[in-house]
Amino acid sequence: MQRLLPNPGPTTVERQLDAYRPWEEPHEDRPFVAMNFVATVDGRATMDGVSGPIGSDADTAMLAGLRTRFDAVMIGAGTMRAERYGRPIASQERREHRERIGLPHDPLMVIVSGRLDLPWDASLFTAGAGRVLIFTASEAEPPETATSLRVVRHEGRVDLAAALRHLREERGVRAVLSEGGPHLHSQLWAAGLVDDLFLTTAPKLTGADAPRILEGKALPEPSELELAWLLEQEGELFARYSHRSPDG
Ligand SMILES: NC(=O)c1ccc[n+]([C@@H]2O[C@H](COP(=O)([O-])OP(=O)(O)OC[C@H]3O[C@@H](n4cnc5c(N)ncnc54)[C@H](OP(=O)(O)O)[C@@H]3O)[C@@H](O)[C@H]2O)c1
Repeated sequence: MQRLLPNPGPTTVERQLDAYRPWEEPHEDRPFVAMNFVATVDGRATMDGVSGPIGSDADTAMLAGLRTRFDAVMIGAGTMRAERYGRPIASQERREHRERIGLPHDPLMVIVSGRLDLPWDASLFTAGAGRVLIFTASEAEPPETATSLRVVRHEGRVDLAAALRHLREERGVRAVLSEGGPHLHSQLWAAGLVDDLFLTTAPKLTGADAPRILEGKALPEPSELELAWLLEQEGELFARYSHRSPDG
């Protein structure tokens, strides 16, 4: 892997992420929030309904590496239904490494759901490892799960700013990696709740009507991004953008 910006030269996912310590930068009223997406050159976020076929093994390594740097991983219900998550960090060695750098053994897995219509047979719920917290607007009761599960209810819709405040103040979460999907992503930007965007651009075109990385209502105003780094491997680009705040 090559780092194109800044300081061009050879790098690896591990080396690149080693100095990335988002848990040291929580806001007073919410955790530091980063988003991670993979897209085709025409900006599509799915192929055949899922994201896996878009990226290469290097993209999977970036995703796995990023998960080791956050207290919590957050997704929307649509992503949970499509991708059927399991335990976010599969490797025992990586979980132990997290503890050595001051992070919890397993990241808290956070799901945002309106209807609580989730794939309860996915191994995230059945494996009995890690912890899951669901923010929902539904009054339905979830089934018994082998994995420890907490539910926080909001009225009407999940208020994402309040949910992030809850994570910071009630759960001690300092940094959240959100892995989408496009509808959750767009609301987080609209509410000014994102600090970093990790975007892999795979050298592929797919066309058709697959979603883009932001879906739903247009943002109230364009979000300004600053390119913090750009990496390349076999034509695939790995960008990290930081949110440029209006006051610079
Ligand atoms: N390329 C990538 O990196 C990437 C990343 C993630 C996902 N994806 C793809 O994106 C697709 C899913 O897209 P999506 O936009 O539907 O995913 P999503 O944003 O994960 O899920 C949308 C769902 O989340 C819930 N939700 C979001 N905001 C809410 C709020 N404020 N209050 C209550 N509920 C809220 C709703 O759930 P209910 O339905 O329960 O009401 C809504 O239907 C999948 O095909 C997945 O593979 C791609």
